[in-house]
Amino acid sequence: APGSPALTPPLGWNSWNSFGCNVSEATIHQAADAMASSGMRDAGYQYIVVDDCWFDPQRDAQGNLRGSSKFPSGMKALGDYIHARGLKFGIYQVPTDRTCAQRGGTYPGSTGSQGHETQDARTFASWGVDYLKYDWCSPAGTRDEQVTRFGLMRDALRATGRPIVYSINPNSYHAITGDKYDWGQVADLWRTTEDLLDIWQNGNTNSYPMGVGNVLDVTAPLAAQAGPGHWNDPDMLVVGRPGLSLTESRTHFTLWALLAAPLMAGNDIRTMSTDISAILRNPRLLAVDQDRLGAGGRRVRDDGDVEIFAKPLSDGSVAVGLLNRGGATATVSTTAAQAGLSGSSFTLTDLWTGGTATTSGAISASVPAHGIAAYRVSGGSPLAATTSRFRDTGSGRC
Ligand code: DGJ
Repeated sequence: APGSPALTPPLGWNSWNSFGCNVSEATIHQAADAMASSGMRDAGYQYIVVDDCWFDPQRDAQGNLRGSSKFPSGMKALGDYIHARGLKFGIYQVPTDRTCAQRGGTYPGSTGSQGHETQDARTFASWGVDYLKYDWCSPAGTRDEQVTRFGLMRDALRATGRPIVYSINPNSYHAITGDKYDWGQVADLWRTTEDLLDIWQNGNTNSYPMGVGNVLDVTAPLAAQAGPGHWNDPDMLVVGRPGLSLTESRTHFTLWALLAAPLMAGNDIRTMSTDISAILRNPRLLAVDQDRLGAGGRRVRDDGDVEIFAKPLSDGSVAVGLLNRGGATATVSTTAAQAGLSGSSFTLTDLWTGGTATTSGAISASVPAHGIAAYRVSGGSPLAATTSRFRDTGSGRC
């Protein structure tokens, strides 16, 4: 949205996928410590986001939000702890009357920001909040009402004078997943679907629960909406969650980087394996995700089980993904031209191994079931059609 502090997709960790409503001061402290000790902070991850259920079920006598008894030092102290580790503080709230946990009956109270937008934005700023996840959590409300209510908090946050990244989810409790509305004027990032679970693919469903393939299919066609300050959010990462194999975790991470998605780890980073930590810290894919051009990767070919993704990068190279959604190893092939590059000789850098090779244009790999091969293709020049398409995409809104 205008004035966005998120000129590249936010990188961080969110409590929801691993802890749900079971959040506490100790857990968040440990997550912040793990962000530093695992090397994720040094790899570029910044935000520690406390999702639903952090708040007291009652506002105070002045109507102010306050932390629950599980945050005995208070939320300002929590932010101080996070900041002292060189990280940024994210928090969760809703534009309606109840958070999703309150609406679902798993948490008491009715403390949503509806009618308290200015007061709550000031409270968050006074606590040192750097990122707000704002989740609709209601079956009621038209699209226009959503735009209005999400817009109220955008304005209230900007009015505090503190740079606070504004992340919205219009989909929760609201069956509008995957429609084409572009939230770029309203928020810095917006969820494109219902929740992503640690499932590879859940049939052809376009609603909860969704797997990696389902969220990909809704989000890939929205690539043109992505750019500095306005990002499609295909949900927190399920990398390292128990339902995905190591190959599937790698593929999911690669795809989210190609989509220019916010990368919010959702696994328990205190106890993750070295393999999972290495996926999350892959420097070549993080550079693709964080590229300052901010182009969303496009699906340039869809042959059923085999799909090709291409994301133009600011130095004129293109990141390419060769995805195999099928159940058996397959040879997946594309060309530099299909990725949007002209030329007669290219360097391929493998985004997983870092190894390089040269090619006159053919790009091909043997890809395991549910796997992906990914390369940075450099040395060519952008084909005119591709260049202007991406230039058009980025300009109008920034
Ligand atoms: C729905 C969202 O999609 C989830 O990411 C999480 O924030 C829950 N609500 C919390 O109740």
